[in-house]
Amino acid sequence: MIDKPDQLPSRPNFSSGPCVKRPGWDIGCLGDSAFLGRSHRSAECLKQLELVIELTKETLAIPDDYLVAIVPGSNTGAFETALWSMLGPLPVDALTWESFGSGWVYDIEEQLALKDVRVLSARYGDISNLSSVRENSDICFTWNGTTSGVRVPNADWISENRIGMTFCDATSAIFAQELAWKKLDVTTFSWQKAMGGEGGHGVLILSPKAISRLREFVPDRPIPKIFRLGKEKVINFDLFQGKTINTPSMLCVADALDSLLWIKKLGGWRATCEKSSNNFRIVSDWYSQRKWITNLVNRVDIQSNSSVCLQIVDRQFLELSNSEKWKFINEMTSILEQQEAAFDIKSHRDAPPGLRIWCGPTVEKEDLRRLLPWLDWSFQYVKTKKF
Ligand SMILES: Cc1ncc(COP(=O)(O)O)c(C=O)c1O
Repeated sequence: MIDKPDQLPSRPNFSSGPCVKRPGWDIGCLGDSAFLGRSHRSAECLKQLELVIELTKETLAIPDDYLVAIVPGSNTGAFETALWSMLGPLPVDALTWESFGSGWVYDIEEQLALKDVRVLSARYGDISNLSSVRENSDICFTWNGTTSGVRVPNADWISENRIGMTFCDATSAIFAQELAWKKLDVTTFSWQKAMGGEGGHGVLILSPKAISRLREFVPDRPIPKIFRLGKEKVINFDLFQGKTINTPSMLCVADALDSLLWIKKLGGWRATCEKSSNNFRIVSDWYSQRKWITNLVNRVDIQSNSSVCLQIVDRQFLELSNSEKWKFINEMTSILEQQEAAFDIKSHRDAPPGLRIWCGPTVEKEDLRRLLPWLDWSFQYVKTKKF
């Protein structure tokens, strides 16, 4: 029997969203910077919203001719805004290999009821056939599938001068993986993943091609105010200067600013991506020396370095039914929570039963190192009880 580890992670928060706050964060960090009880239309608040947009562009090295807006409804709000405002004039290739991608496919097929839609899907742990996207189609995809731990290996499969646009849900990729801006027309994310920010607000990034689409195309469907980027073909450019559609939380805005300033100090997206990859390496070095657990994803080039999804491959575990496997995982994760060794590391309810460990840049490597012996211990503990 493995001895119970004697060291706990100092921050056992390994959830894949909302993710752990940046190291050193304290609610007091927002005390002086948050404009509470002030109108978000006041000059001070607008300046702060604009600063968040500017720092987002700077720390992510977003091209100067791209526009960035803060929109309602978190990443879902940002992505739905784009789908509802811009899809329609061209065929659509919708790629899905896990839960969130499937959600977009449902909206495209069932809610928007677009005619020429091709769905390119893959099972959990695999990726769609990227080379089969059509040149003249709009492409919708998730850069990093948070629930399967599968990411696109790069953007080589998106040709430079394609006719269609690319719509990229990058919420669990941003600040963890290098994004090929020149190939992305719509990119969305929310603050509560790699930034360790708060939920509720989405970020929408548009290329010049996306801006032209908004100028030239008026969809034949009603668009709720919360998703509207303008009226008819007139774009609401104020949005891209911090004048939000409706009221944002200035507490969350101050928190996002805190995180972006931390990221800037670290060295921007390159530094945060490197931190994520180093964190992932700690986990992959560990599981590669274990017989009972491995990555859910076989292909190394598509393994996520942010939402790392693991499967148990122990022979006796594999003989269990699906519901028994979930029971096993539930027992493991509740012991880990009771011991305060790890919170929220059960795989997503739509994914195969397993574990998911967030390795984004707000996670400290020492905490991951301390977590891993607890995984060995809790597995052994539940297995001994069961078999
Ligand atoms: C890839 C992906 N897309 C969409 C969402 C939904 O994002 P939000 O809750 O910010 O709307 C998530 C949340 O985990 C996600 O990981």
